[in-house]
Amino acid sequence: MANVDIKDLSKHFGSLGVFDDINLHVDDNEFVSILGPSGCGKTTLLRIVAGIEDTTAGSVIVAGEESRKPRPDTALVFQNFRLLPWRTVEDNVAYGLRLRGRSKAEARSLAQPYVMMVGLAGREKKYPYQLSGGMQQRVGLARALAVQPDILLMDEPFGALDAQTRELMQDELLRIWSADRKTVMFVTHSIDEAIVLSDRVVVMQSDPGRIVEHIPVPFDRPRDAAAMRADPRFTTLRAEMWALLRQEPLSSDMTHRATGE
Ligand SMILES: Nc1ncnc2c1ncn2[C@@H]1O[C@H](COP(=O)(O)OP(=O)(O)OP(=O)(O)O)[C@@H](O)[C@H]1O
Ligand SMILES: [Mg+2]
Repeated sequence: MANVDIKDLSKHFGSLGVFDDINLHVDDNEFVSILGPSGCGKTTLLRIVAGIEDTTAGSVIVAGEESRKPRPDTALVFQNFRLLPWRTVEDNVAYGLRLRGRSKAEARSLAQPYVMMVGLAGREKKYPYQLSGGMQQRVGLARALAVQPDILLMDEPFGALDAQTRELMQDELLRIWSADRKTVMFVTHSIDEAIVLSDRVVVMQSDPGRIVEHIPVPFDRPRDAAAMRADPRFTTLRAEMWALLRQEPLSSDMTHRATGE
């Protein structure tokens, strides 16, 4: 079972309390989005689940085991693309397989279907700088999928994309995930994106970071994102999530950004 069980989790960096008492169970093959203001600890939470960040208190059980180090069945897609600029598309996609001990030839051949899946066939020999932002993010997605993870942790994977590319990538992810379901924790700032993709949306607030609501998304799958956006239930869910997020005063981080400091 590829489930994630987070119990009474707290995280502090020295005197800074990031979050307290996070409780979240993500079921096998469930798609859960985490929505919350900047600084509430979303990235930190994913890093803890990925086994690359310590906990302060509480427990995180991934597929039945305490999460203390990175697992071969878990893949993390980063907030910015984090591609290796000196490697080609195919070698970037093959990178996770190389880390897991595959030979270069083997890794390239296993990576090839994932290059195709994200629509980059013919661009295998290109370098990241020769690709658009959307293409680069697709390389990041293919790299995560190529290791055939049971658990996919995605940290604002589409945050750096323009609105149109972002919607195309959401459609792409819906299609890929419907064909090959995995347990997904998906961090986003976009309410629409969270609703379109998820079985359930977890809303966080900050200072201290905490989960304030679990909201199920009652749309059948396979989904049509455009039809969903036109559905009155979508508008209701959207309003509900906005209301929860709006209770949040601007964090100092966002205030600085808003005032250009
Ligand atoms: N390695 C670290 N050392 C010290 N403080 C950290 C570290 N990593 C994160 N923090 C702090 O922890 C808090 C939560 O950070 P985190 O990156 O998890 O937030 P986030 O919810 O992902 O924000 P965003 O939406 O902007 O990506 C922030 O105050 C951040 O400055
Ligand atoms: Mg983050």
